[in-house]
Amino acid sequence: MKNIEVSKIINPVSASDGAGVKLKRSIGVDPDYFDPFLMLDEFGSENKDDYIGGFPPHPHRGIETVTYMLEGEFEHQDSTGAKGKMSSGDVQWMKTGSGIIHSEMPAMNEGKLHGFQLWINMPAKLKMSKPNYLYIDSDKIQTHRDDEKKVKVIAGKFEKADGIVKGHNIKPIYFDVEIKKDKKFNFHLPLNHNSFIYLIDGEIKIGNKNHNKIKNSTLIILKNGENLNVSAISNSKFLLISGKPIGEQIARGGPFVMNTKSEILQAVQEYHSGTFVK
Ligand code: FE2
Repeated sequence: MKNIEVSKIINPVSASDGAGVKLKRSIGVDPDYFDPFLMLDEFGSENKDDYIGGFPPHPHRGIETVTYMLEGEFEHQDSTGAKGKMSSGDVQWMKTGSGIIHSEMPAMNEGKLHGFQLWINMPAKLKMSKPNYLYIDSDKIQTHRDDEKKVKVIAGKFEKADGIVKGHNIKPIYFDVEIKKDKKFNFHLPLNHNSFIYLIDGEIKIGNKNHNKIKNSTLIILKNGENLNVSAISNSKFLLISGKPIGEQIARGGPFVMNTKSEILQAVQEYHSGTFVK
């Protein structure tokens, strides 16, 4: 079986989105698209001015947004009438399908906010489907624990810990992994998947070949392979995310991601004429 090595190490760029929320963007800038992943943002700060504006009402079409809160609270509201509060450790997996208009606002006035938002592309046949939500409370997320590591399974399966997201077209794997210094994390990934690691904290080495040390808030694009071996140089925390590529042409228009430019224009037109929400 083929060992997985590092393809590219990327330092996120500082960006601002919504009403001035400061974030670190990696996928969506470099690489622009890592099929099926469209965007990866790490948001978070101890300074409320960096997040308090939140994300006031905005539309989406043709994508899935997966929000994972590590610290802090977010309040969510949308055009389907859904409303909810996310707390530390919770996940919101939203399939926007044909379209929703939603807001995501911090439900806190001070303290630390930290989390991730991942955008996953939807295939043409699902882009105009009905919007669908999955709220996963932290205590419903199965976690593998042993003396060397902790693996929180948001999607996929690690040992006996099984993710809630089932029957998904990209067969997603989304793990939050913590490994102790000098210990290892080994996992088999499907050969045809695109996979990456996002190092949140610590220092790790991936595969067998030497490469420069990788430190905090770094996107690590992995080469295709089956055997993933990660060693922790210090106590480390990272996300492992993997999915089957969709392989379709995409057209982007801000919060809309479709297959063609004319479908983007149609989304913009519908949004402005008030016929966007189906
Ligand atoms: Fe959004």
